[in-house]
Amino acid sequence: MPAQQSDRPASDEPGGAGDGPVDRAAVRAGALRVLEAHWRPEGFTCPHATTYPWLWSWDSSFHAVVWAALGRADRAVAELATVLSGIEDEGWLPHIGYLTGEAVHAGFWGRPAEGSRARWSTIVQPPVHGWAVAELARRGVDVPDEVVGRSVAAVRWLLSGRRRSAAGLVEVVHPWETGCDHSPRWDALMAPGSAAADPYDEARWFDRKGELLATVERSAGGAPLHNPAFAVGSVAFTAVCWLAAAELAGLTGDEALAGGAEELAGALADRWEPQLRTWVDDGPTATTSGRARTAEGLLGLLGEQRPGVVDAVVAELEDRSGIGGRYGVAGVDRREPTFRRGSYWRGPTWPQVDLLLWLALGRAGRDDAARALAAATVEGAVRSGWAEYWDPDDAAPGGAAPQSWATVAVLMGA
Ligand code: GLC
Repeated sequence: MPAQQSDRPASDEPGGAGDGPVDRAAVRAGALRVLEAHWRPEGFTCPHATTYPWLWSWDSSFHAVVWAALGRADRAVAELATVLSGIEDEGWLPHIGYLTGEAVHAGFWGRPAEGSRARWSTIVQPPVHGWAVAELARRGVDVPDEVVGRSVAAVRWLLSGRRRSAAGLVEVVHPWETGCDHSPRWDALMAPGSAAADPYDEARWFDRKGELLATVERSAGGAPLHNPAFAVGSVAFTAVCWLAAAELAGLTGDEALAGGAEELAGALADRWEPQLRTWVDDGPTATTSGRARTAEGLLGLLGEQRPGVVDAVVAELEDRSGIGGRYGVAGVDRREPTFRRGSYWRGPTWPQVDLLLWLALGRAGRDDAARALAAATVEGAVRSGWAEYWDPDDAAPGGAAPQSWATVAVLMGA
């Protein structure tokens, strides 16, 4: 969805910017204010009051865990239940719910103008809900069986209903599905035939996203299965599928999910490229833009066991001339020709990507690196005024602010 630039200065509210050390209680108070202001009576937290007034599935899944961490289990469960209430009979989960006001954009998504499906989009987003369900359970929150069951069904659909790339990664059908919609990883399919080192053109990218919706192939029931014009086996998307499947398998004992997680872990391991020190996407971008060194490309770390690979990623994350940053991970490695300071998905730090990398470091037992990333991201969130994304070097805010998912800082030890 279009992101607007915000000229809002860094926050001076509790938990807001300042030069002193970040105070844990103030961060939690500041995060709570952001989430409270964005809570909607329909049972979800909007990412931003005007730029993003609706429900986005991966945003809301992060919000749910933050609500739990802030002592509001009721909101946590309500938000996850709302996310998963969008599930289709076939088992796939739409990524946006237009749950407030009019059922806008039904036509854009090819939905009927009225009825229960009019309010939902027709593509998916990374299934962060699977991690959120397990995380709430770990925190002692009672998640209703129906919510757990829907999360399991949605992840099972991704594993068995969605097409796989030749190397076994889960395909996406559109850049929006990745949640990282202007990442350089999609460039070869956004500007096909371009020989430019950096072909990015913001207006063209927005048009191209519209075009790419038209070529999505669907089941008779409307499930998005494949897009011949965007058949990317995405490392980042697959890694979140792995996380969701592994987490839900651990919680429920579901064997299909356990087997699926194992399969995805194997496929991801094969996409590690030691020369580039990143995981490489599969499909039509495998030899071109799918090799770009981006923060989300490092999410392969989530299912990674090999100490040498983990060491290499930790070194990358610490390198401030590459992808490391004072206030979080740069969205794109500064050495890439496509790196653009301050540009949507082309350079800034995204808090939800940092949170996932932080989880991965913890899983890999790299507690020092996890702590360092957490401290940087918490400071970035606060100094940027809880921005949608921010500059990794000076925390200058980008996009909408305040944005709800910046509050994942609370989970990272704040
Ligand atoms: C932007 C982001 C997407 C997010 C949405 C709402 O479109 O690219 O990942 O879900 O905003 O925050």
